[in-house]
Amino acid sequence: MPLTDSYGRVIRDLRISITDRCNYRCVYCRTGSNGVQYIELPFADYLRLARVAVSLGISKIRLTGGEPLLRAGLLDFVRELASLRTLEGTAPELALTTNGHLLAQMAEPLRTAGLSRVTVSMDAVDPERFARITRVPRSYPAVLEGVRAARQAGLGPVKINCVLLRGFNEDQIEAFGRFAREEQVAVRFIEFMPLEEGRVWTPEVVVPLREVLERMQRFLPFHELPHEPSSTSRRYKFEDGNGEFGVIAPVSLPFCGACSRIRLTSDGKLRTCLFSLKEHDLATPLQAGCSDAELARLIELAVAQKEDRHHIGEPGFVQPGRTMVHIGG
Ligand code: 5AD
Ligand code: SF4
Repeated sequence: MPLTDSYGRVIRDLRISITDRCNYRCVYCRTGSNGVQYIELPFADYLRLARVAVSLGISKIRLTGGEPLLRAGLLDFVRELASLRTLEGTAPELALTTNGHLLAQMAEPLRTAGLSRVTVSMDAVDPERFARITRVPRSYPAVLEGVRAARQAGLGPVKINCVLLRGFNEDQIEAFGRFAREEQVAVRFIEFMPLEEGRVWTPEVVVPLREVLERMQRFLPFHELPHEPSSTSRRYKFEDGNGEFGVIAPVSLPFCGACSRIRLTSDGKLRTCLFSLKEHDLATPLQAGCSDAELARLIELAVAQKEDRHHIGEPGFVQPGRTMVHIGG
């Protein structure tokens, strides 16, 4: 019996934030203030929780942060995850979301350790704009080199996540179309969600799916590709066959009904929705010495309470206390 929530959704994807440290301070994510308390668990603890989750039916694991490549010991952790076996008897699919800054030197070793794919966050394809968004100088050339190294290492298809913010980067949409074709990567535009530290979200800042398509039409013609019901993105291919892009539209086209995801925060709390107001502490019982069977029961109980959907843009919406840099996307 696979892990199933009270709405009948089968939970197959686990995202693990392995640190809430980051070497970037993207404007829509971090306030850039200091004095934050960072909390990470030893890899052995994430591994144990992952193993129990996989024994319950998880078949895909994505490592996130903060910035996951900042953590020493990551390669050994990936190797251990790759040796787990799903209920189908195969290795779990292993992906990682990174800002790409340290990817150039890490791509090949990650591949060798057993990672399947990477997603790189890039919110502009112009060095100056990129530096303004990440608040780190010379970040663009480093990330570009990382993207190329990932392709070379076979960590593909390399996906690029671009969060769109009105007044900031919506004029980059066509340039990203060109980038997708030149670099042979799948760019996915993401509608901005209220999960940032600075609390600047308003509906007006969101660049909706419709507008992305309108702008891209001015660049080149494309058609929509079929998508899995549980997929978060709509995909489009340029008519001449070279390059594709996608749009993840949690605000204008919510996909909660097909959600298959749960998330573990870097301090070992299970979140059943990005917008959960309640977290399920697994670190405390784990560190107190509880058994695998008890951990499995706690995960099942949490999944049984998975929220039906998010309420972005509705009256009474409450932004969760924890932000993306803790939850990991
Ligand atoms: N809304 C949408 N996407 C976000 N990300 C970070 N913050 C937000 C937000 N408020 C994206 C990052 C990264 C992924 C983990 O989530 O760009 O690619
Ligand atoms: Fe770091 Fe990602 Fe947040 Fe940017 S969006 S500050 S790269 S965690």
